[in-house]
Amino acid sequence: MNHLLSIESLSGAEINAIIDAAVTLKAERGNHTVQPLAGQCWAMIFSKSSTRTRVSFEVGVRELGGSVMFLSSNDIQLGRGEPIKDTARVMGRMLHGAIIRTFAQQDVEDFAQYSGIPTINALTDDEHPCQILADLLTMRELLGGWEDKRVAFFGDGACNMGRSWAWAAARLGFELAVAAPDGYQLDDEFMAQLPEGAKVTRTDDPKIAAEGADVLYTDTWVSMGRENEEAKRLVELKPFQVNEALLDLANEGVIVQHCLPAYRDYEITERVLESHADQIFQQAENRLHAQKAVLALLAAGQ
Ligand code: CP
Ligand code: NVA
Repeated sequence: MNHLLSIESLSGAEINAIIDAAVTLKAERGNHTVQPLAGQCWAMIFSKSSTRTRVSFEVGVRELGGSVMFLSSNDIQLGRGEPIKDTARVMGRMLHGAIIRTFAQQDVEDFAQYSGIPTINALTDDEHPCQILADLLTMRELLGGWEDKRVAFFGDGACNMGRSWAWAAARLGFELAVAAPDGYQLDDEFMAQLPEGAKVTRTDDPKIAAEGADVLYTDTWVSMGRENEEAKRLVELKPFQVNEALLDLANEGVIVQHCLPAYRDYEITERVLESHADQIFQQAENRLHAQKAVLALLAAGQ
């Protein structure tokens, strides 16, 4: 693995290797005998807000022996229009790796190509691979894995999280049901890109998605960059809230997951969130362990 640009670009074997490494790194936290990023300097280039991703990468790089600089895109010339490929060619000559949060997936792909250094997608409009890796680690811890499991995603199915889940289901062979209204569903063009046999289904009935689910998953109804659509989204996505009624339809032992930040009583009720807070904040903690695994594998060129 040279970069982490998307879940789409990973194989099932690569995803498994990352999760295996994350399990080890989590167990050994505080006692790392190897420092795979020793002597390295990584940059984090962010054009959108972040709490979890920023903190987990800053801690993770340091715990693996490296140093890290956080660069808001507004603080560097990128924010004044310097092309990403020029930024990449400069940074590639100085840094050992880059972690990028931005809008267009193509910008992360271009940075990887022109910089020649390991590049990690820390969220684009298309995908959020780091979050999915943490979610899979949490599934392994709480459900014993994803084999034969059914994940149900509610809300903006076409957002970066819905799309990333679809690729994870396709690569690993588990079932994903996406419940979303018209205009927020994975579209036909996207579905046509999934490999034959992918167990990804679409419905506009949240009850159908929840039936027999092992994981109920949701995300904000207003992704970063969509703020001007907020009023419309809050109305149109309302029937897709994760609430007690949906929980009742799910499998016994169902877990509730949210990539956070959560907007209570919009995409998830206060009661469901708080009654599953241990699972949700374990998921948030796992960002650190999953991303350390990615960093260590990239540093080793594996
Ligand atoms: N889930 C997630 O990526 O959170 P942040 O936006 O706080 O990084
Ligand atoms: N879909 C959300 C995820 C936030 C972590 C967004 O893009 O804003």
